[in-house]
Amino acid sequence: MVVTDGRPAPKEELPNFDLSTYLKERKVQVEEALDLSLPLVYPEKIYEAMRYSLLAGGKRLRPILCLAACELAGGTVQMAIPTACALEMIHTMSLIHDDLPAMDNDDYRRGKLTNHKVYGEDIAILAGDGLLAYAFEYIAAQTQDVPAQRVLQVIARLGRAVGAAGLVGGQVVDLESEGRGDIKEETLTFIHTHKTGALLEACVVCGGILAGVSNSQLEDFSSYAQNIGLAFQIIDDILDITATQEELGKTAGKDLEAQKATYPSLWGIETSKAKAQQLIAAAKEQLTPFGEKAIPLLAIADFITARTH
Ligand code: IPE
Ligand code: IPE
Ligand code: MG
Ligand code: MG
Ligand code: MG
Repeated sequence: MVVTDGRPAPKEELPNFDLSTYLKERKVQVEEALDLSLPLVYPEKIYEAMRYSLLAGGKRLRPILCLAACELAGGTVQMAIPTACALEMIHTMSLIHDDLPAMDNDDYRRGKLTNHKVYGEDIAILAGDGLLAYAFEYIAAQTQDVPAQRVLQVIARLGRAVGAAGLVGGQVVDLESEGRGDIKEETLTFIHTHKTGALLEACVVCGGILAGVSNSQLEDFSSYAQNIGLAFQIIDDILDITATQEELGKTAGKDLEAQKATYPSLWGIETSKAKAQQLIAAAKEQLTPFGEKAIPLLAIADFITARTH
């Protein structure tokens, strides 16, 4: 211990960081931006349906990841807020469509009736389409103080993450695998890394691109996000078994009933939890080069496994 003027030198501590305050503040910021992003105009019915799901709450994890990654890479919230909103629009589209009778057939989402339960299947499909298209328009039209080349890269990465090479492809294999007892780990990993991991990866990577990170840093961002992405869906599968509808805001126990291919069904709950923990440790490892600046993303990684909903 270094003693200077008789008093012990201050202990080296991590800067004060309270994740729950951070998440709360970011959620408010994102929700204000989302509310402004989508005014209610004619034909009101579709905008109402889009706003119903977009503004229904949720953790807002995807926009928060995008903003945190942009800041870590030296950018500002202002540079990333249109992309952050777009990511939540796309995520919301994926939830509306995932809940449709033709897919998971769910009645509750974010503590409310699902979009098709309120507006009908026809409007729910269109609300999802509307949100998806608007997300890309919103990035292209609203991003400021970012070179056009970076915006173009964001649009391309995001398109790939949501299309058949990403989320859509994952959802297809998820649906194909329902009711089959013979799903291999490789297939399950494909489902999870695509239906959930691809968009989560895009959140972090796009935040970095907007701020102009180097290619090697982008690799670190991408590995971090791929690891948390897989862990996120493993925990979602676990919570489907262990949490209540009140906690989740969506019907619990659906995966077993629908005979979904999940990690707990393959490995059991404890092994699945351990695997998620390993992935989180691996994710955090990727951010070592960034030092203390990475604290928000490190804390978010821990939140993925600690969360209860
Ligand atoms: C639910 O995502 C869908 C999955 C990819 C598992 P979230 O758990 O992030 O849902 P919200 O946005 O908080 O409602
Ligand atoms: C969701 O997977 C993946 C997408 C919405 C793309 P789940 O079907 O497990 O999500 P929840 O449990 O309905 O939220
Ligand atoms: Mg599903
Ligand atoms: Mg579902
Ligand atoms: Mg689920």
